[in-house]
Amino acid sequence: MNAQTQADSKTAPFAIPTQCRRFEGRVVVVTGAAQGLGRVIARRVAEEGASVVICDVNEAQTQRAAQRLAQETGRPFLAFVGDLSAEGVADRMVAQTLERFGRIDTLVNNAAALIRMPLVDFTEELLRKAVDWNVWNTLRCCKAVLPTMIERHYGRIVNIGGEAWRTGAPFHTLLAGVGKGSMVGLTVTLAGETLRQGITVNCVSPGGIDSEADGDPEGRALAVRDPSWNPPEAMAELARLSRSRPNSMGRISHPTEVAAAVAFFASPEASYVTGQHVGVSGGMAMI
Ligand SMILES: NC(=O)c1ccc[n+]([C@@H]2O[C@H](COP(=O)([O-])OP(=O)(O)OC[C@H]3O[C@@H](n4cnc5c(N)ncnc54)[C@H](O)[C@@H]3O)[C@@H](O)[C@H]2O)c1
Repeated sequence: MNAQTQADSKTAPFAIPTQCRRFEGRVVVVTGAAQGLGRVIARRVAEEGASVVICDVNEAQTQRAAQRLAQETGRPFLAFVGDLSAEGVADRMVAQTLERFGRIDTLVNNAAALIRMPLVDFTEELLRKAVDWNVWNTLRCCKAVLPTMIERHYGRIVNIGGEAWRTGAPFHTLLAGVGKGSMVGLTVTLAGETLRQGITVNCVSPGGIDSEADGDPEGRALAVRDPSWNPPEAMAELARLSRSRPNSMGRISHPTEVAAAVAFFASPEASYVTGQHVGVSGGMAMI
């Protein structure tokens, strides 16, 4: 690789300020936003004028992210802490958002549990947790926001998928096959159900993300990603496969690159786009 090619294949820098102001007066809820991609999405919509609710199961990290992002963007942030897969939690999140901000324009379903291992190695308990944290949280959040969106005849729902559901990546049966595959199905059927209700539902699927580059100076809470969920042998095999993939850009994404696509679907601009799936994955999968 020459020097220019090397520079081109690095991830983009975090702080490219946007000139867009699509979220003035809007309220955006981002799940799993204490760190990683969710934190960057929350920051992006705040930079464009949104009041933002960040929801996560990790209490200390959520409070800290809300405080920091509010300082950095000058926008109001509400921190909501809870396991969104548990009954009633998403309903409480919606109630608190309406109490504080009076409306919900956008829901970004980003929360997930990154568990990558052979299906035969899952315990019964981990199987349940993987379905809870990759399916039930999104289902419950969608169901909880719909009544207020239907009442206002306006809503944007953006589901965060992941390309592994359609590339057949090994060790992704729960995370991608069940989790992200169902996210795509949910996107399409819910979009069909809400077509005449002013609501759009779309899905953005990243490939690999440099999610450590989320701009948090204190780093990430890896406790929510139990190291045993991603055994080194599985990760080494995934890295080998990704190096040998011919049709990708040869780098993972910066989270701001994914957040930019999410911000479009989350905004009023995307008024005539629903039931769609877009890969933001450097060519890993096409159409
Ligand atoms: N990191 C990647 O390479 C990659 C690739 C493709 C897709 N994705 C998707 O992008 C999204 C963000 O990924 P990331 O790397 O930032 O992940 P991450 O693990 O850093 O962050 C996910 C956040 O979701 C929270 N969360 C999980 N389950 C929750 C629940 N039930 N209730 C409340 N909070 C919950 C976690 O506490 C965590 O803070 C996920 O949907 C992931 O599947 C990531």
